[in-house]
Amino acid sequence: MNKKRILSGMRPTGKLHLGHLVGALSNWVKFQDEYDCYFMVADWHALMSEYENPLNLKENILDNVADWLACGVDPEKSNIFIQSQVPLHLELYFILSLVTPLGLLERCPTYKEQLREITNRDLSTYAFLGYPVLQAADILLYKAEAVPVGEDQLPHLELARQIVRKFNHLYKTECLIEPNALLTKTTRLLGTDGRKMSKSYNNYIGLSEEPEVIRKKVQSMVTDPKRIRFSDPGHPDQCNVCNYYRVFFPEAAEEINEACVKSKIGCTDCKKELAGKIIDLLAPIQKKRQDILKDKGYIEKILSLGQAKAGKIAEKTIQEVRQILKLI
Ligand code: TRP
Ligand code: SF4
Repeated sequence: MNKKRILSGMRPTGKLHLGHLVGALSNWVKFQDEYDCYFMVADWHALMSEYENPLNLKENILDNVADWLACGVDPEKSNIFIQSQVPLHLELYFILSLVTPLGLLERCPTYKEQLREITNRDLSTYAFLGYPVLQAADILLYKAEAVPVGEDQLPHLELARQIVRKFNHLYKTECLIEPNALLTKTTRLLGTDGRKMSKSYNNYIGLSEEPEVIRKKVQSMVTDPKRIRFSDPGHPDQCNVCNYYRVFFPEAAEEINEACVKSKIGCTDCKKELAGKIIDLLAPIQKKRQDILKDKGYIEKILSLGQAKAGKIAEKTIQEVRQILKLI
């Protein structure tokens, strides 16, 4: 019965793609039996970087949650909720920010990197600096013992742990719990151009992409640059196409590998085959997604159940925290 509680979140910034499937969703699905899972739509976090042109959040949320469910996140096993529907996240965020040293946030590597790299938006705001504090609140509010995250989120998790230590030490309490990272075997999936798969690079293959588009995108993938003529032996270990085989179709990867090295298959055919396999992989997911979206109220019902359940736990933690700070 007493399963460990875990929490993870995803920002609803747009359509989900294969990177989300291998990086997060497939792990979430695996954790559902072993842990008491809370999966959260981090809409406030999305707004922190998109506040200038607020996204169509409601639409994105329904779209993303439909994909979560279609990929196998099961509302019977896991709690799915929207961050902004549990406003207590903000109260804890404020309280944590009381004890969070400014330097810790300013030195956070993800913060520095994003300020440097994202130049089409103004991210030098008070809220964006506090991004990891809200993330800490998301986790600590539920006393989650572990957080399934990719490596890119490790600095945020470390910050959450530091905040817990500071808070518990300062107020001589054990109220908050240091969360551990639930690091999953990192499957690195690059975009079609060989860079990190991302919406902003337009190099992704979406989960609800049409077969024709998938074929086109796969055909545009960068291959082994040393293989120019058919007769040139390929270097599949340096080829992104082959990496897709390894990640999604390990049973076929071996054969492709050999055929490539021995120049028995050309890149066009190799990609044609890959596209067909991705289309087949996504077909049942897309079918399930369509079925889910047919029932208009279904997702909203799941989200309101999730909100109620999350709200209860959040309420309990916040009561303790208020007492510690001699509020109320
Ligand atoms: N920052 C995370 C990301 O961009 C999303 C997120 C928000 C999150 N709150 C969280 C992840 C809490 C894990 C736990 O991917
Ligand atoms: Fe890559 Fe396939 Fe071409 Fe080999 S045959 S270089 S694995 S695309």
